[in-house]
Amino acid sequence: MTGTLNRERDQIHFFAYLVGSGIHLASWRHPTAVPEASIDFAHQLKLVKAAEAAKLDAVFLGDSLAIDETSNPGILNRFDPLGLVTALGALTSHIGLIATSSTSYDEPYNFARAALTADHISKGRVGWNIVTTRDVTNSTGANFGASEHLDHGLRYRRAEEFVEVVQGLWNSWTHDAFDYDKVSGRFFDPAKLHSLNHRGEFFQVAGPLNIAPSPQHSPLLAQAGASVPGQKLGARFANAVFASHHTVAEAIEFRNSVRAQATDFARNPDEIFIYQAISPVVADTHQAAQARIAELDALITADQVLGFLQKYFGGAIDFSTFSELTTVTEAGIVGLSTPRTDFRAASEQIRGREDHVTLKELYSVLTGDKRNNDFIGTAEEVADSLERWHAAGAADGFTLMFALLPNDLETFTATVIPLLQARGLARTDYRGTTLRSHLGLKDH
Ligand SMILES: Cc1cc2nc3c(=O)[nH]c(=O)nc-3n(C[C@H](O)[C@H](O)[C@H](O)COP(=O)(O)O)c2cc1C
Repeated sequence: MTGTLNRERDQIHFFAYLVGSGIHLASWRHPTAVPEASIDFAHQLKLVKAAEAAKLDAVFLGDSLAIDETSNPGILNRFDPLGLVTALGALTSHIGLIATSSTSYDEPYNFARAALTADHISKGRVGWNIVTTRDVTNSTGANFGASEHLDHGLRYRRAEEFVEVVQGLWNSWTHDAFDYDKVSGRFFDPAKLHSLNHRGEFFQVAGPLNIAPSPQHSPLLAQAGASVPGQKLGARFANAVFASHHTVAEAIEFRNSVRAQATDFARNPDEIFIYQAISPVVADTHQAAQARIAELDALITADQVLGFLQKYFGGAIDFSTFSELTTVTEAGIVGLSTPRTDFRAASEQIRGREDHVTLKELYSVLTGDKRNNDFIGTAEEVADSLERWHAAGAADGFTLMFALLPNDLETFTATVIPLLQARGLARTDYRGTTLRSHLGLKDH
């Protein structure tokens, strides 16, 4: 499973992030939106087929394991990602299908089996976004018999071992172990079956797994942790690393750091693709693109903003006296000490603009909106920015977290992708049928 083909590295890679009617918190209220999109399978399939027609690497489904009344509408009511990916795999032919699944509250055997099943059904197109679970609501532990979410350090130790076990189980059989020889009566070659017999800090798993490797051997590993142990996990195991940086300089620093850490694990850094998360908005003019965001922002209510932030900061600030248009500086959020590790990425996204960023925008940023002026504008402007970030070594690819679906996906694939294809920077067709092949990686 090693070795890369340079042609794939020279182009810009794309994942389309699919969440409800879009990452924008008020997207479901837009006149064109399908509010129940996240539990409408036909709608999800349509989005995936649009991404496949544009020859994107994969669609990417996030996940969380707890909700409360302040949760983003797009995640309040949605499918289990692995279940959705399993169904999508049967009805598509080329596009990769990445499902987020947590190492904090599952058993490696169950997960390894379900994910490899999905990988088989898609003929080798599944990816696993390894997360330790971002506990936005401070209530995830309560769904699993615990009073609190697992401590950060503990959950990354568990994640390392979880992935080791899952990989061990996926290596139960060599890819040619089953000979199904009707004449001799031999179903498989016993020399090609390996037991795992894992005994570690968190798991005791004997193996072997009761399913053979898929056409790409096993799901591609993706990972999205930004902290020191998060980066280490990605550098050790992942082929796709999700990142969220606001400037080219910060993105270059992160990419170089992950690549350097990969060499510490004796890996070839070219096997790791860093996907920067962005929320592109494309329109006929730069002003029209800005107006599209303003139109959506106007649909976010003050109660939504203040209720979320009150809970998010755990009562460290009293938001009841503020409005949704109070700035981050006025609310005293700048320099606030918080144990939340996910606050760092959000702080980065608004750094230097705190006197202008409103609580409404902070709320959008904290809940996943990756708006960045570089990727808001005409198709040419956005294509130029993508090329500039890619050429500078800030990203191998991008995770497209569209504000409004399917609108922004359709506009992007109809306008930006053809421009990049004309510049030789985006593929015009798939060269293989597995997700690994889209990254130029060998299947076995
Ligand atoms: C593009 C992107 C997508 C993410 N999707 C998820 C997700 O679906 N579920 C989740 O629990 N965390 C998700 N995360 C958050 C990370 O898993 C991680 O918790 C966060 O970046 C904080 O890093 P840390 O866990 O290393 O402290 C995502 C992060 C990024 C950048």
